[in-house]
Amino acid sequence: MNKKTMISMAVIRRLPKYLRYLGELLNNDITRISSKELSERTGFTASQIRQDLNCFGDFGQQGYGYNVRELYDQISKILGLNRSYTTVIIGAGNIGQAIANYTNFEKLGFVLKGMFDKNPKLIGIKIRDLEVRDVEELPDFLENNKIDIGIICVPKKQAQGIADIFVKNGIKAIWNFAPTDLTVPDDVIVENVHLSESLLTLSYRLNEDKLFKDK
Ligand code: NAI
Repeated sequence: MNKKTMISMAVIRRLPKYLRYLGELLNNDITRISSKELSERTGFTASQIRQDLNCFGDFGQQGYGYNVRELYDQISKILGLNRSYTTVIIGAGNIGQAIANYTNFEKLGFVLKGMFDKNPKLIGIKIRDLEVRDVEELPDFLENNKIDIGIICVPKKQAQGIADIFVKNGIKAIWNFAPTDLTVPDDVIVENVHLSESLLTLSYRLNEDKLFKDK
């Protein structure tokens, strides 16, 4: 088994959280943190944090803890934030426009290069500085521009068709907001975002006590 397959998604999903907390520490001019303090702030146990970080190398020193800047930089690098990525959004509706207008993604290095839709009322409008293009132009655009990540914000019935265009034109990473499971080749990564799943988890937790009340 190689290192790539050994690192579980659970570990990978904790890394952005570590990065966020470390970023907050840096903003507060905190340069050094013990694993105990980091554990109190993140809600993960100190041994969990140590185990997670050990997957990638030797961070922190016994008795010293972690150097916040060093750890922040290392985790950024592990998350691939030491380079930038080009993106396109397909579907310039509610979600598509919200993502395009969220400038923080750009600060992280995700640069939006194109927005596409099929609705003539949206084609030609400007969202920030980008003009929404006709989705018919998408294959040509992908052929002429190196795009790293395709973002799907169309209704679920249209999502697979867009994914197929992405795959055919060499896109290897898809951020999918449509509530559907996409079929893609093994060398293409799909990350699904389903806000409703998060909302339903919240409603479950709100009602959890009642479920077990009489048991
Ligand atoms: P919307 O109707 O505002 O926008 C969808 C846009 O896609 C429209 O502008 C439409 O013209 C365009 N479109 C449709 N077919 C297309 C095609 N073949 N090529 C290019 N453009 C096409 O819808 P909204 O609210 O933005 O939702 C978009 C998607 O995101 C839906 O699949 C919805 O279920 C999903 N969604 C996901 C959430 C999440 O948590 N991931 C939360 C809310 C919505």
